[in-house]
Amino acid sequence: MSRSSSPRARALLRASHDRGFTAMRNITEHNITDAVVGRFENCPDPRLKEILTTLVRHLHAFVKESRITEAEWLEGIHFLTATGHITDAKRQEFILLSDTLGVSMLTVAQNHAQPPGTTEATVFGPFHVEDAPRYAQGGDIANGAPGEPLFVDTTVRGPDGEPVPNAVVDVWQADEAGFYDVQYRELSEHRARGVLRTDAEGRLRFRTVLPVAYPVPTDGPVGRMLVASGRHPWRPAHVHFRIQAPGYHTLITHVFRAGDPYLDSDVVFGVRASLVADFVAHGAGTGPHGRESDRDYHTLDFDFVLAREAIASTAD
Ligand code: BEZ
Ligand code: FE
Repeated sequence: MSRSSSPRARALLRASHDRGFTAMRNITEHNITDAVVGRFENCPDPRLKEILTTLVRHLHAFVKESRITEAEWLEGIHFLTATGHITDAKRQEFILLSDTLGVSMLTVAQNHAQPPGTTEATVFGPFHVEDAPRYAQGGDIANGAPGEPLFVDTTVRGPDGEPVPNAVVDVWQADEAGFYDVQYRELSEHRARGVLRTDAEGRLRFRTVLPVAYPVPTDGPVGRMLVASGRHPWRPAHVHFRIQAPGYHTLITHVFRAGDPYLDSDVVFGVRASLVADFVAHGAGTGPHGRESDRDYHTLDFDFVLAREAIASTAD
């Protein structure tokens, strides 16, 4: 403060010290949350300000409610550090953490409120790849993946029952050992995944292998968290689908196999009752679908209904 400032300026400065700065020197467990939130006061991005403010309020409430000790907080920091260290281009432990804590499914559920009659969305998971091989109608996407044959017959429709032709359908799944192709170090080509297109009637048929239940990776910090908390790491058997078509919302979902013992305890909380379907068993030979197989096989018939994208008004 300059010696020449007026008595009134000095009084104002003293008052602001009393209200703000002095309080900031006496941080307690009771005023620290407001003090931190106050530091975001001038954040130029209102959404960022809202997110940071809410995060701090809930994080502080968590520390207070759980009476977190310093040793426990350090343990948490070590856990997050290990989560970062094991993460690379092929292994995303933070997504797995988000999945197993139900945060991924929560964001899906609150951002994909489905119009009635349309197929429900579920978690994306970490095993999709963008450059999967393309297959023609009727193709065998297993590409040598081990497993009992599965013949899939599906139709993609819009909300009024209209077929959606030429939709781009990504399919990916685990093999009979419960592994995705990207989990095998020695594999140089993709297996049990592919990109296909629906025909003029919105129909798509392909061959793959019967999915089985599999555990999420447990050799990292998230696996240790599951063990320490007495949780199992299993996902019920499923096939992943991503369906994209102009004029419709992209659908990211799975079809789950009815009868799987983990349907009610999926480690990532991704099951929706409407996505559970019968994978029907058939003996070797020519089955009711006219498919020929020299070994036992399954069939899956499941139709998808896409939600329509809102049409932007051109009136103005
Ligand atoms: C999956 O279904 O591929 C998956 C989803 C969440 C975590 C791990 C795997
Ligand atoms: Fe999966």
